[in-house]
Amino acid sequence: MNLEQTAYWDKVADTKEFNHQIDWEFLNPHLNRESTILDYGCGYGRLTKIIADKGFAKVTGIDNSSEMIKRAKKEFPNLNFHHQSESVLDYSDQHFDLVLLFAVLTCIPMDKDQDELLRELKRVIKPNGLFYISDFLVNSDQRNTNRYESTSYEPYGVFELPEGVILRHHTLEYLKSVVFADFEILYENIYEVTTMNGNKSSAVQLAGKKRYTRKRIPIKKPTVNYCPTRPWPQSSP
Ligand SMILES: C[S@@+](CC[C@H](N)C(=O)[O-])C[C@H]1O[C@@H](n2cnc3c(N)ncnc32)[C@H](O)[C@@H]1O
Repeated sequence: MNLEQTAYWDKVADTKEFNHQIDWEFLNPHLNRESTILDYGCGYGRLTKIIADKGFAKVTGIDNSSEMIKRAKKEFPNLNFHHQSESVLDYSDQHFDLVLLFAVLTCIPMDKDQDELLRELKRVIKPNGLFYISDFLVNSDQRNTNRYESTSYEPYGVFELPEGVILRHHTLEYLKSVVFADFEILYENIYEVTTMNGNKSSAVQLAGKKRYTRKRIPIKKPTVNYCPTRPWPQSSP
């Protein structure tokens, strides 16, 4: 966990509003009332609340900012929220029918940290379960280009806000090929969002089904014991 980044989300927990919307027309047919749903990086719980209001009771919101979770619990005391500072999730493999990751990758600028989180999220999604993200795309306007270029961080699209937090805008290609590796993409929608600071940005929603992969059972090779008094068996010509 990057403590400085988390300290930022703690600091702004009571003031920021987020607004990426769930596309229910797409999502609804994939769920039933018993679906287990994880809203990862839930912030103050606005999506967890929307999901619960739609009648899905088995929804959990998790965030690594204790202040965001405090606000979520205060605003929606009947819902299930957990503060989680470790990257290992306290769930068995293949637990969830749906994992939502809305405007969270943008808070995790480095590939290696994203990889670690994605491995863990993918572990807890059921085979044929859904992974649904909404996140910012790299923009081509002058304001964004300037800030991508005025930082030493890699890759292109990472930038620092004046208040000190480091954020990332992604290429569509990266999201599809890296984040959705092992998933069959079912839904893609490029749209415009208003950021938490009131600016416009290009964004994408992607959802995919986890490919069912059989667990490999290692085949045991027969062991051949060498006996010094007998020659090695010769293979027939
Ligand atoms: C922009 S907000 C979006 C909140 C929520 N998903 C929404 O759309 O309303 C990003 C949230 O991700 C959380 N976050 C960032 N990195 C995280 C991580 N590695 N693990 C868990 N939560 C994280 C932040 O604390 C913050 O609450």
